[in-house]
Amino acid sequence: MEAKLCISSATLGAAALLMMMLAAVVVNSDEESPTKTLVKVVKGKKVCDKGWECKGWSAFCCNQTISDYFQTYQFENLFAKRNTPVAHASGFWDYHSFITAAAVYQPHGFGTTGGKLMAQKEVAAFLGHVGSKTSCGYGVATGGPLAWGLCYNKEMSPSKIYCDDYYKYTYPCSPGASYHGRGALPIYWNYNYGKTGEALKIDLLNHPEYIENNATLAFQTAIWRWMTPEKKNQPSAHDSFVGNWKPTKNDTLHKRVPGFGTTMNVLYGDQVCGKGDDESMNNMVSHYLYYLDLMGVGREEAGPNQVVSCAEQTPFEQSSSSAASSS
Ligand SMILES: *[C@@H]1O[C@H](CO)[C@@H](O)[C@H](O)[C@H]1NC(C)=O
Ligand SMILES: *[C@@H]1O[C@H](CO)[C@@H](O)[C@H](O)[C@H]1NC(C)=O
Ligand SMILES: *[C@@H]1O[C@H](CO)[C@@H](O)[C@H](O)[C@H]1NC(C)=O
Repeated sequence: MEAKLCISSATLGAAALLMMMLAAVVVNSDEESPTKTLVKVVKGKKVCDKGWECKGWSAFCCNQTISDYFQTYQFENLFAKRNTPVAHASGFWDYHSFITAAAVYQPHGFGTTGGKLMAQKEVAAFLGHVGSKTSCGYGVATGGPLAWGLCYNKEMSPSKIYCDDYYKYTYPCSPGASYHGRGALPIYWNYNYGKTGEALKIDLLNHPEYIENNATLAFQTAIWRWMTPEKKNQPSAHDSFVGNWKPTKNDTLHKRVPGFGTTMNVLYGDQVCGKGDDESMNNMVSHYLYYLDLMGVGREEAGPNQVVSCAEQTPFEQSSSSAASSS
């Protein structure tokens, strides 16, 4: 009798679990079909398609995708204070927007290059940049200064509209529009809104405000920036981080090595690199290391200081149009 009861409660438990799983599938089904990896071989190379998060027959999609190793609770840990009443974009940012935006770039290697460790490190590095640029943390903020990433989604009280007349034929400013900082890696200036909009096929030149109204787009513009070289002879931040980029002798001479330091060099150049102990550089590094810890990777995986920092690197030659330029 007792044994029979045991069995039936176990059966009940299993049935409940199954129903919960079914419920999860149903909840996700409008856009996220359950992960099922399709595999085929093209010209001797294995390529995969994982449905909504990694589509389009890519070798990268055979690897773990971001949601496999970076989950909602981790996003919540990294950006713990973003929805507090004093935050400036309370209710705006969420995990789902990040993964939805990342889905566009995972077939191209974002968070899917190399093994799981490299992939986790890349997500920590990208979000480290994001956290630093969107933080409203200060020395005595509760939870510490690193707990306040994604506090902003736009520049508050901009002092100008960032309209550069030099681009009046290529990226003319839209009457009434203001091109102040917006997004997860804030974009400034008409030409940067224009270029980013061209790449994403969204009319950001006439509608810069789209970015502050749509968290998926706010992440997407940032990941596009991470994945795209600023200049032809320079790597993207992504390539410089995951090791796709092979430094030339000249790069090595100027201390530019694959890693987090070079991502800052790619994105910000002489604004933060080659200046020794720069405060803004240190802030990005601190966010990166903090996120590695919170993701369970551990900051020791970041590598030595020459790799993590760009204090001693010669800046890449910067074009005047650095997307991150705020002045
Ligand atoms: C997929 O992951 C393996 C290690 O798990 C790695 O060796 C391989 O390079 C990755 N594939 C791609 C396309 O990066
Ligand atoms: C937000 O942006 C994403 C990515 O560009 C887009 O797919 C989506 O339709 C947008 N959502 C709204 C409500 O406009
Ligand atoms: C070597 O790097 C320096 C500093 O970034 C740069 O000014 C110079 O043009 C580079 N030389 C070559 C041959 O690429």
